[in-house]
Amino acid sequence: MYLTKEEERIYDGEYGWAKQVCIKILVKLGDLFGAERLISIDSAHVSGVSYKNMGDVATGFIEAIADAGGKAVVNTTINPQSFDAKYLVKKLPRELLDAQLRIIRCFERMGVKLSYTCTPYYIESPPKGAHLAWAESSAVVYANSVLNAWTNREGGPSALAAAIIGKTPNYGMHKAENRNPSLIVELEQPLRNDLEYGALGILLGRVLKDRIPLIKGVENAPNDMLKQLGAALASTGMTNMFHYHINQKVENLEKMTVGATDIKRAIEELTTSGGKKPDLIFLGCPHCSINEIKQIATYLNGKKMARSLEVWICVSPFIKEKAKGYIYKIEQSGAKVLTGTCAVVTWTDKLGIETIMTNSAKTAHYAPTLNKAKVILAPLKECLKTAITA
Ligand code: F3S
Repeated sequence: MYLTKEEERIYDGEYGWAKQVCIKILVKLGDLFGAERLISIDSAHVSGVSYKNMGDVATGFIEAIADAGGKAVVNTTINPQSFDAKYLVKKLPRELLDAQLRIIRCFERMGVKLSYTCTPYYIESPPKGAHLAWAESSAVVYANSVLNAWTNREGGPSALAAAIIGKTPNYGMHKAENRNPSLIVELEQPLRNDLEYGALGILLGRVLKDRIPLIKGVENAPNDMLKQLGAALASTGMTNMFHYHINQKVENLEKMTVGATDIKRAIEELTTSGGKKPDLIFLGCPHCSINEIKQIATYLNGKKMARSLEVWICVSPFIKEKAKGYIYKIEQSGAKVLTGTCAVVTWTDKLGIETIMTNSAKTAHYAPTLNKAKVILAPLKECLKTAITA
């Protein structure tokens, strides 16, 4: 890969160990995927923040970079952590909190924004056509497909390396020729709710692997629905983008049809509770938008949660601040608004939670392994109805 004189100096260690390690990670990736050079990025988003997902080895890597003076040189945000400041800090063991704080202090020293969210685009939407180095697969699909920004699906270490160098190798989704659809997906019936968008993502992710589809019939879908579709798509496959504007010129592309029965089957496969009642209702995967918070607050206004279960609504600290009035209404109902974390990146099993009800197909896909939990997948409204009647 071609390096500028300045990049060569970084590579040779003239700017210290942290930068040297970071550029070596980027060059290794670039060589692997055939990039000819590094390109500047507008922002980075780092995953691998929750101690539950990282463990001690990955923590040691981040600590070494921070100790060596690594600093983010572009706008850098981070994914959710394992705790929120209000509820989970009181409920989970102190040593887990200490381990999480060790990671957070590293990010703080590296000058990243402590955003703790998988929806960094609500804080600041990247400009159209901007090159990014984002980890967090749901945000990657959303950025490429809905925001028209350009990013590969980074891993935690490569996103951090890009943040510290301010560049990323130019391959994959950074090249216009790799962003075209290679097949058309037609829906036999319109999708009716968040759940069906998620289910479509789950089944497309499985069959597409990494191919980019043009999905017909979702061109007027609200962004919250496209967020569910993209998050699910990324959880079962490696596709980093979908197209959904039908005015796009496409010729002679392979076609695939998705019927109502396919969607129904995908939902049924993800529902593993076997009739058991939920211990936890979890909404906000990916983290809620203001619009979703408003919808939840409007529904719960004046109502009370059933005593028999926990209800978690997960948001970023940014959205919590922006939507104070709605958050107040939600909390008055007895539902908990958890900030900067989510059910998947914390230890629900240590809280005795065995069955999770959610509207998120992504959570439904991961919860059986990452939370050792059974799942009930249902639309937002049904989750809320259960929250007050269970
Ligand atoms: Fe975000 Fe947690 Fe879902 S990080 S995408 S809410 S699994």
